[in-house]
Amino acid sequence: MKFFIDTANLSEIQAAYDLGVLDGVTTNPSLMAKEGIAGEENVMAHYKAICDIVDDKVSAEVIATDFEGMVREGEELAAIDPKIVVKIPMTKEGIKAVKYFSSKGIRTNCTLIFSVGQALLAAKAGATYISPFLGRLDDISASGVGLIQEIKQVFDNYDFGTEILCASIRHTMHLVECAKLGADVATCPLSVIVGLSNHPLTDSGLAKFLADHASANNAPVGA
Ligand code: E4P
Repeated sequence: MKFFIDTANLSEIQAAYDLGVLDGVTTNPSLMAKEGIAGEENVMAHYKAICDIVDDKVSAEVIATDFEGMVREGEELAAIDPKIVVKIPMTKEGIKAVKYFSSKGIRTNCTLIFSVGQALLAAKAGATYISPFLGRLDDISASGVGLIQEIKQVFDNYDFGTEILCASIRHTMHLVECAKLGADVATCPLSVIVGLSNHPLTDSGLAKFLADHASANNAPVGA
């Protein structure tokens, strides 16, 4: 499973990269706004700064909602760096744009996926990634993990080459459940990636090992 970090915060991206387990980054207009990034020049420079940290796969989302606008913006984004993946919303115009970019060999991430039908349509159009939003489905008492399971079942019947990028992940169990289903990618906050390392038995086990070592060596704990 690939791990992407879901943020536009450069320090968090660097921290995830330094862990040595990061495969990519996803951003969206809300995450860019949260970092106070506004204006075309600043937005482009920020995407470039992200690309300079990571090895590949930086999703940058178009703002336009019409086909021509998405194509224009997507081409500008793709020109920033070969690591850019053009992120396009799941709409009729978006599907046309996904098809356009896939026929040009430019990678796309079709976002705001909430149904199997949407996932299937984006895969047919040649999306590199589809992003089903788990947390937002859970928020309305639907099953985010259930959607991943259904999409996986459909994709396993065919050979689209489209990867399932689980998005809107809120906690470690979302990620673990997606991994159990064989999803290709999970994009998560830094806290979720780091949270995978936590277990109270690890903490108490390590404390005991260090205490026993210190006692056998007449040394302070940790020495
Ligand atoms: C990533 O591609 C999505 O934009 C993001 O995961 C959405 O997460 P949220 O539902 O927590 O805003």
